[in-house]
Amino acid sequence: MSGRPSASRRTVLRGAALTPVAGLGLAACSGGDGGGGAPATPTAPVVLGAASEVSKGGAQLYLDENVVVSRAENGSLKAFSSICTHAGCAINKLTGTTLVCPCHGSEFDAMTGAVLREPATVPLHDLAVETKAGKIVAGPGA
Ligand code: FES
Repeated sequence: MSGRPSASRRTVLRGAALTPVAGLGLAACSGGDGGGGAPATPTAPVVLGAASEVSKGGAQLYLDENVVVSRAENGSLKAFSSICTHAGCAINKLTGTTLVCPCHGSEFDAMTGAVLREPATVPLHDLAVETKAGKIVAGPGA
């Protein structure tokens, strides 16, 4: 006498689960690279590559780590998450210093993280970055 028919519970759960997924549209955005899971920004410092890879006034996109690193004319480095702030797609294109999101076409400035083209309205999230033994290290706590 303790159990109830499961049909009514399942109906409720299904309705609850579908709403947020459809609203975010993440499933369509994150599945393009063969199933590496949802794109994510590093949660710990990661070694990205040789510091010499990023020239003054230029930028490098590190696809596996979802990080973009740029170097100002004065030589200082900046790093940003390359996860689009619009709906969470991993940005996979860098033209010069402009990042282009494959999902809805938002563009960001890799030098500042600023939005250059909507629909995104929030700048890219910046990450700590430093050079260690000639390598670029970026991520929280770097
Ligand atoms: S997720 Fe929509 S433009 Fe990037």
